[in-house]
Amino acid sequence: MTLLHDLTGAPPGMTTRALMLRLAGIGAVLAGTAGAFTYTGGWLSPGALTPARVVDRFEQVNGPHPGFRRNHAKGLCVAGDFASNGNGARLSKASVFSAGRVTRVEGRVALAGGQPYAADAGTIVRSLALRFQLPEGEEWRTGLNNIPVFPVRTPEAFYEQLLAAKPDPATGKPNPERMKAFFAMHPESATAAALIKARRITSGFADSTFRSLNAFRFVASNGRTTPVRWAFVPERPAATESAAQAAQTDKNYLFDDLVAQLRREPLHWRLVVTLGQARDAIADATLPWPSDRESVDVGTLTLTDAAPEDAGNCRDINFDPLVLPDGIAPSDDPLLSVRSAAYARSFTRRAGEEKMPSAVAGTPPDGASL
Ligand code: HEM
Repeated sequence: MTLLHDLTGAPPGMTTRALMLRLAGIGAVLAGTAGAFTYTGGWLSPGALTPARVVDRFEQVNGPHPGFRRNHAKGLCVAGDFASNGNGARLSKASVFSAGRVTRVEGRVALAGGQPYAADAGTIVRSLALRFQLPEGEEWRTGLNNIPVFPVRTPEAFYEQLLAAKPDPATGKPNPERMKAFFAMHPESATAAALIKARRITSGFADSTFRSLNAFRFVASNGRTTPVRWAFVPERPAATESAAQAAQTDKNYLFDDLVAQLRREPLHWRLVVTLGQARDAIADATLPWPSDRESVDVGTLTLTDAAPEDAGNCRDINFDPLVLPDGIAPSDDPLLSVRSAAYARSFTRRAGEEKMPSAVAGTPPDGASL
């Protein structure tokens, strides 16, 4: 056991090369976080956006919910694997895309928003977060949403929008005047919101398409880089949410359905990577890319298990979008470094707080547990 092992938390048997890769990974995380601080310059200009202020704003809008994620607070752990078909190997040298490789995956499905006990509803943004554990201590963590574009272009707009969209206690809905003022300042958000509203609401997590929204770069073994966005596209055909579902009063119907489906059979999604071109919006997640861009199906995600959040499982993972393996690099999208820094701040706060049980029991409606 060496100092390197201590610093990196690596198991005693790990080789020096594996350790160096792990250190490179940690370095990338730190660089991403440091980049966010440089970007926001929080300590030089009072009033500038810092990770702490972003997380404070979630708490201001949602109230205190100790122990829970400050966003996407209501969730359920899932697990399975990813089988690569080799088609991604020409685009990225990441080991996860080697032909035939099967990677263990831990994840979390959740609903956006900072209310851990909110009732499920089809219109709430659904998310899937995944951690791929790769050889030699490398990891790929990615967080995805079931919407076509993200509603804001910059961290500052995200911060403003959180407050503008805070439900008015009198109506339970955002104040229309505030939203109008926000959209007047951010016309790109008005356009994105229209695209998000027009999306088809599907029947559940199992037939949702989950997208990275932010762009990244794939780095091939010859050094060539390609701007990419990725999506997990369900193998089961998408069904529109039924009127009966929309009228559901069961608080956890979306999560309970997923648990019941996973008890019956594994669920599959194709990982589809879309290749951007020079004129596509790389640093603006509010803009879709043209629909004729080349897409490559690089493999299949299979989910087999679900479990309630608990000590040591997905509850204690920070799905930081800048934990990337060699072969996947961040883009210039300004949301990425701020996400990384804010998730770390949210994680640090919740890790130090007493835990309440999750609203999602992971027990299907018929009462049988997984
Ligand atoms: C500046 C913009 C954003 C900020 C400040 C932000 C903030 C946060 C925070 C604080 C959390 C909770 C993290 C934790 O405690 O583990 C979170 C969760 C999450 N965010 Fe974001 N977010 C942003 C943009 C995005 C975008 C563009 C996506 C794209 C898909 C995204 C997807 C997710 C997902 C999937 C989760 C849940 C992860 C999980 O289940 O643990 N976020 N976000």
